[in-house]
Amino acid sequence: MDGSQNILRRSLQFRLSVWLSLATVILAIVAGVFSFFSAFDEAIELQDDQLRQVASLVHRQYFANSPAAPEDVPTSDPESRIIVLTAQATEGWKPQAEARDLPANLRDGLHTLMIGDARWRLFVLTRDNNQRVAVGQQTAVRDENAQNSALRTVAPLLLLVLILPLLAASTVRTMLRPLRNMAADFEKRSEQDWKEIRTDSVPSEVQPLVLAIRHLLSRAAESMRAQRRFLADAAHELRSPLTALSLQAERLGGADLSAEARIRLTTLRRGIARTRALLDQLLALARAQGEGGEAQHVSLTHVFRRVLEDVLPLAEGKEIDIGLVTQDDISVRANEVDLLLVLKNLIENAVRYTPAQGRVDIAVALVPDGAVVYVDDNGPGIPPDDRVRVFDPFYRRLGHDEVGSGLGLSIVKAIAERIGIDVSLDASPAGGLRAMVVFPKAVFHPVAMPPTRARPSEVLGNRLIGSQQQPFIQDSDGQPLSK
Ligand SMILES: Nc1ncnc2c1ncn2[C@@H]1O[C@H](COP(=O)(O)OP(=O)(O)OP(=O)(O)O)[C@@H](O)[C@H]1O
Ligand SMILES: [Mg+2]
Repeated sequence: MDGSQNILRRSLQFRLSVWLSLATVILAIVAGVFSFFSAFDEAIELQDDQLRQVASLVHRQYFANSPAAPEDVPTSDPESRIIVLTAQATEGWKPQAEARDLPANLRDGLHTLMIGDARWRLFVLTRDNNQRVAVGQQTAVRDENAQNSALRTVAPLLLLVLILPLLAASTVRTMLRPLRNMAADFEKRSEQDWKEIRTDSVPSEVQPLVLAIRHLLSRAAESMRAQRRFLADAAHELRSPLTALSLQAERLGGADLSAEARIRLTTLRRGIARTRALLDQLLALARAQGEGGEAQHVSLTHVFRRVLEDVLPLAEGKEIDIGLVTQDDISVRANEVDLLLVLKNLIENAVRYTPAQGRVDIAVALVPDGAVVYVDDNGPGIPPDDRVRVFDPFYRRLGHDEVGSGLGLSIVKAIAERIGIDVSLDASPAGGLRAMVVFPKAVFHPVAMPPTRARPSEVLGNRLIGSQQQPFIQDSDGQPLSK
């Protein structure tokens, strides 16, 4: 509760809305009260004028022309009736049904007085011939009329009091939309997306802040680029001495060595191979975190073939049954080297961490949101708690003898974020690990399949088997389908 209160207190939108609403409501209330009382007074004055006019009319009619007693002015509401009383200056007022005991010495003009139980507003008029007329109306009725008329004047203001806060809140919200859009843009960006922030729709008051952020971002991007260049250059520079070292080790292998020296040489070779693999992965990581190459339409089957060419020797060495189980080929709009790196690291992991005589299946499926590549193995898998951590650079799980640098999955993650695909790990139905690569609709489109592969396949029907010389697709009976 405290947290949300704090956020509200710091929210510019909330504060602007509250202050604007408060200011408009207070102004509207002040204006409303003022309008109410002035409209009320005006209505009372108007009714006084009416009394005056009635008095003058009655006077003229009654004393000048008509011998009959004046009648009260008829109305639909008896309460609001206007009563008329007459008197000769020397005599008292002639009593009237509601108005008895009217003081005889009433001066000309307007009076408010109690007659019986009710309060009355009276206008008394005396002409030269001393003939007097009093015209009156109950104040309760007059006040009610005045009140109604004043309320009608204030009603639009009351409506404004309700509408203005909403209007203020929505205006402030609209004005702050460019900032929200900017935040959403930042939120969507990957770590490698340093493209400039657009400032054209940002309010001019906020532009200095946005420009400062833009400069900071471009400096940070430049420093990241420099770091990556350094990493790539260092890895590249280390390759030449390493090649020289491995040549020397090869030559040493041909020399006449003692048994002990041979054991040491083997260890040395292994170390050199590990360092070479590490350098390759470092170079791949630097590339993955960079801008990446140009995107083209790449067939996934083509990428699988190239990956299988690379991993087949390893799979054959461990007698692992590796195959592509799919009916769909998918064309993906991406850079081929990026795709190769993603799929090679995932498939190589599956082969490397699956024990000998295991099984690795690669499948492509179309799903409502796009297309998914599954790499399933029946190895030891990765417990759920570790399935995110393994994407961190240099993180390796314990409990296996496989050599590696711990960079493969961070390369995959960096590329995935840059090209807008989603990579995740899960338990595989085959018993080991399932790596999933989701290509959203924007990144892929299915390709018409070659006729030889259009026939329906059973589960795990068609398997793409790679060999270093000639990868080919075979059906479940082992017959080649297409080259
Ligand atoms: N298919 C898998 N089955 C079981 N464990 C896996 C699998 N794939 C990855 N791992 C675990 O995740 C860790 C990180 O994998 P990652 O590919 O990032 O690095 P690596 O394979 O150790 O080294 P590199 O790929 O750089 O040569 C691995 O050390 C391994 O413990
Ligand atoms: Mg790996």
